[in-house]
Amino acid sequence: MKAAIVLDFGSQYSQLIVRRVRELGVYAELFPHDASPEQFAHLDPGTFILSGGPASVYEPDAPSFPAYLFDFQVPVLGICYGMQVLAKAFGGKVEPGQGEFGGTTFRVIENHPVFHGLPQEFHVWMSHGDNVISLPSSFQILGRTQACPIAAISDLNSHFLGLQFHPEVEHTEFGREILANFLFRVCHLTKEWNPSLIVEKAIQEIRERTKNGRVLCAISGGVDSTVTVFLLKRAIPGQFLPLFVNTGLLRYQEEEQVKKVLKDADIDLHYVDESSKFLGALQGVTDPEEKRKIVGNLFIEVFAREAKKLGPFEFLAQGTIYPDVIESRGKERKTADKIKTHHNVGGLPEVLPFKLIEPLRYLFKDEVRQIGQLLGVPAEILNRQPFPGPGLAVRILGEVTKERVEILKRADFIYQEEIKRAQLERRPDQYFAVLLPVKAVGVTGDRRAYGYVLALRAVRTKDFMTADWFPLPLDLLKKVSSRICNEIREITRVVYDVTSKPPATIEWE
Ligand code: XMP
Repeated sequence: MKAAIVLDFGSQYSQLIVRRVRELGVYAELFPHDASPEQFAHLDPGTFILSGGPASVYEPDAPSFPAYLFDFQVPVLGICYGMQVLAKAFGGKVEPGQGEFGGTTFRVIENHPVFHGLPQEFHVWMSHGDNVISLPSSFQILGRTQACPIAAISDLNSHFLGLQFHPEVEHTEFGREILANFLFRVCHLTKEWNPSLIVEKAIQEIRERTKNGRVLCAISGGVDSTVTVFLLKRAIPGQFLPLFVNTGLLRYQEEEQVKKVLKDADIDLHYVDESSKFLGALQGVTDPEEKRKIVGNLFIEVFAREAKKLGPFEFLAQGTIYPDVIESRGKERKTADKIKTHHNVGGLPEVLPFKLIEPLRYLFKDEVRQIGQLLGVPAEILNRQPFPGPGLAVRILGEVTKERVEILKRADFIYQEEIKRAQLERRPDQYFAVLLPVKAVGVTGDRRAYGYVLALRAVRTKDFMTADWFPLPLDLLKKVSSRICNEIREITRVVYDVTSKPPATIEWE
């Protein structure tokens, strides 16, 4: 299977290029711009795509065009910075320009397969300060915008192409078609990447890697760990054990649901109820980072104890997915400010005596959902809301007690139920309730009441790195608020969170 090698020059859209290419049926992987060919030696490159990036090609230490690309016999597409670095490599000139940020009209000058089936003019998304101002002699201009006379280029053999605009972003009209034209009309690749192939490959890899070794798999009830378990069942039935730790911080009826799903699929589950232990350890703790640390450490302790009891296990299976891998690679390079410590049930430390297998390591969330569907994972799991590893501990502000966990579970369930009834569950990308550590006055049946304040949150986001608060219909909010205050005596007031990320985060802790 041919693959598209996407070289990352630091653009915020690099990951998006990989997604778009895969959506078109071609396998793509992201590598640092200075990766050596050994790093992708396991792949059969069908094209290289150079991403955009924040640097200027004329700066002293600017990332450069990888020399091996001169000799590789496959087409290369440079996007934004990628086009500039390509033009410079062949002797073109790049200089600071007036800059183009946002939407503009692109005009095709030269009919080229990459614009096949498109109108002569269309809307594109630009984000650049520099311009290519003169072309290498073997290149031609394919298109321009008003502020950028050289906005698309190609050499005469169509081996090296450049686009100053971003075909991978939704704001570019026909961006998908342009990428498809490039992959299928310029590179002559075929559509091979699809859910059944992904499953087949994953099964084969699991079998080759584990041989006869036993595998332990932590299951949280979320999409990724459940799909991992279903894959293991197909690949190595009888050779693995899913372990489900009830922390007492799960959503309403979540433990029953997880047990049922696995039972229906005929998968044996090892279940341990450690809720009193977790709640005990959280007693009196109000600091969010402290809570995360306690839950994370305790989880590891329970996990290690059970693994020892049920072992020996040679392998540990985790539901790590591609954005986590890319993000942690990114973190190795940059020193970003820590906003909060993310604890993931999958994120067990390497000191545990296991070899890791991560069958979803190269998949995006939508691909995980697609293969989950193929493997028979029920829709209620596949469409599940993201849920933080420390669970309700970080949605109960202040101290976590059994009483407060129960209140939040019920309130959150009502909120979820009403959103589903209104058939809006696909509109916000995440929604949940948060129990606040303040009390407020209310009246119930002519009596003064003094109860908890509950906050409702709903956000729209693509990558969970930034998010907009979602405007749920007012009559829905009214209904949710009225049901919660009527059905849960301890809550006297409901508020709606209208903060985006940034400045807030999605979770409250
Ligand atoms: P924040 O609050 O950082 O959340 O804006 C971004 C996304 O990550 C989820 N989240 C977590 N997921 N372990 C996880 O596995 C965690 O500790 C954790 N904290 C936040 C959050 O629900 C949102 O989808």
